Amino acid sequence: MLMPESAKKGYLWVNGEFKSWEDSTTHLIVHGLHYGSSVFEGERAYNGKIFKGPEHTARLFRSANILGMNIPFNASDVEQAKEELVKKNGLTDAYIRAFVWRGGEEMGISAPASSINIAIGAWDWPAYFPKELRDNGIKLTQVNWKKPAPDTAPTQAKAAGLYMIGTMAKHEAMERGFHDALMLDYRGQVAESSGANLFIVKDGVLKTPIPDCFLNGITRLTIIDLAKKHGIAVQEKVIMPDELFDADEVFLTGTAAEIVAVGQIDDHHYTVGSVTRLLRDAYETLVGKS
Ligand SMILES: Cc1ncc(COP(=O)(O)O)c(C=O)c1O
Repeated sequence: MLMPESAKKGYLWVNGEFKSWEDSTTHLIVHGLHYGSSVFEGERAYNGKIFKGPEHTARLFRSANILGMNIPFNASDVEQAKEELVKKNGLTDAYIRAFVWRGGEEMGISAPASSINIAIGAWDWPAYFPKELRDNGIKLTQVNWKKPAPDTAPTQAKAAGLYMIGTMAKHEAMERGFHDALMLDYRGQVAESSGANLFIVKDGVLKTPIPDCFLNGITRLTIIDLAKKHGIAVQEKVIMPDELFDADEVFLTGTAAEIVAVGQIDDHHYTVGSVTRLLRDAYETLVGKS
């Protein structure tokens, strides 16, 4: 995913100050870069309004807290900075990236006294998957990389280090000609894709894995809520790979990916069904997507 050139004309908010793209730099010797002590958020604004901004800010603070990092700002400072940044960069539909990292004052594994830094960027990022896949869905392939156990990695934090696995999984899938990876967890249960939660539909019932070793996405929770409002039964349950192949519909949910239908998992094909289309429409209406 290439960064749009327009982003490079904008500003970032860095530790409390707005800085130009060129001035928003950090030293190479920082703990966050060497040891993965970094967490982040991905958010979208539609028509100038950040969708579920407070929920994303709350998750950023929770993620930082899990990694033992105390953000030196209040949630309301971060909320205000995000709003101002979107305006300052002249954006109405935007992707917003807030991130937190440990500085380089201590460069051993332990770094309890190092600075905790926070920055926010905002840029134009229209669609995560090509728009022409909307009617037929994306192609997933099961990869070998697994989601780790919650006592092996901080799986409830949106921690940069965890995305090392996601990137390797997605690269593996793309090298095989697929759009994304289907990831199982350490128990062999269906988990999610490299960057979005997964739902299946069987006989009109919406089913999704229990998020006990991956992010309980804000979009996932929104879809569960919308489904219930539309009278669709929802089950959060263990899903084994075999159940996928018996499903009528499959789709992914995430801030970046939004609601994206899955048209194929390895050799198995799906049509973009009525439940997927109904929930995708309901989501797009809720977020104010034009
Ligand atoms: C690995 C992973 N799972 C799930 C999600 C979906 O989370 P959300 O809906 O909060 O964006 C994301 C995106 O943040 C993600 O990166």
